[in-house]
Amino acid sequence: MKLAAEGQNLIDWAAREMPVLLLIRQRFAKEQPLKGIKVAACLHVTSETANLMLTLKAAGADIALCASNPLSTTDAVAAALVGQHSIKTYAIRGEDNDTYYQHIESALDHHPAMTMDDGADLVSVLHKKRESQIPEVIGGTEETTTGVIRLKAMADHGVLRYPIIAVNEADTKHMFDNRYGTGQSTLDGIIRATNVLLAGKKVVIAGYGWVGRGLATRAKGHGADVLITEVDAVKALEAVMDGFRVMKMAEAAREGDIFITVTGDVNVLDRDHFAVMKDGALLANSGHFNSEINLKALDDLATGVRQVRPSVQEYKLADGRRLHVLGEGRLINLAAAEGHPAAVMDMSFANQALCAEYIARNAKQLERKVYDVPAEIDSEVARLKLHAMGIAIDTLTEEQRRYLSSWEEGT
Ligand code: ADE
Repeated sequence: MKLAAEGQNLIDWAAREMPVLLLIRQRFAKEQPLKGIKVAACLHVTSETANLMLTLKAAGADIALCASNPLSTTDAVAAALVGQHSIKTYAIRGEDNDTYYQHIESALDHHPAMTMDDGADLVSVLHKKRESQIPEVIGGTEETTTGVIRLKAMADHGVLRYPIIAVNEADTKHMFDNRYGTGQSTLDGIIRATNVLLAGKKVVIAGYGWVGRGLATRAKGHGADVLITEVDAVKALEAVMDGFRVMKMAEAAREGDIFITVTGDVNVLDRDHFAVMKDGALLANSGHFNSEINLKALDDLATGVRQVRPSVQEYKLADGRRLHVLGEGRLINLAAAEGHPAAVMDMSFANQALCAEYIARNAKQLERKVYDVPAEIDSEVARLKLHAMGIAIDTLTEEQRRYLSSWEEGT
């Protein structure tokens, strides 16, 4: 609790870059759209998340928050949420796996009527271990690509038992948060962990989704030679035409100085790749789970492992080569840096807040499936963000509106 004052400073600092969320907070304080609703949120416990929690609280919600990753909590922020705002918060940076899951159980002890997830661990534990509580839940939201994939799989298997809005699918989420937010903060994490110079390095990026695209452009901007690996032909083609070299990982593994996985899949960097990597290679992951680098295989190959810097573990191989795993293979932007900057979390969390309001108002009409963010919410977030940035845009004239809705006019 001694960290609470420092945490409050971090929360206030982030708030300066979150004008959209603050506008929503002001409206929520008047209208109380979440009055009396119990919310359990499983999110990265950062200063930006704290601002979302304060917005939900202003709306009248009764909140319990737990971490969505063992290595992403800012302890001072957790202390401030408890000490200054009386928000139940279960999160300790560096907690072990058992504690991580105990914290999820503690958030569920709150008996939520709404869940807010980042990666779907909360929903998964609720469905697997707390079935009797499910009828209490009116709906939930999901923040990230990986969580949406898991939830859609649950819906496809017919086991998802309440409606979820996939916040990640909003344009004002993935086009900005994933591309610019993860793009920038991943390099920030790698640089803070290692102080490496990117200029002149061969940076291998596995995955060319929204995150991979953002990361590749930023790495190129730093002067790196960027190599892309993909399994999707369209995305691979896009990477080629964006000017990047595209190849199989088996080939890239021989060339790369820095490897970054952003696929959402497992064992993207595997035994055969470690076998041919250069001495000194850096291995980082910025996908949601720590499953993209096969650490078990690397551990088996290694003759010794030592911590050489706070977020860097050196694996020594039998032939003398050293491979360096950053942030234990967990999402490097939160493990070694501070996650996405507040200016993009502003839009992601504005979507979260407005979707929570939407669920509270429309729960009775919603089915047990994964919904996209309503288009009105997406465009409202963009409109408010532009307004906050002092940018005005054109509107269609009556003539233009008529032209666009007519079919008679041609060549
Ligand atoms: N995910 C990525 N960056 C984040 C941040 N700063 N706060 C909460 N969730 C995040």
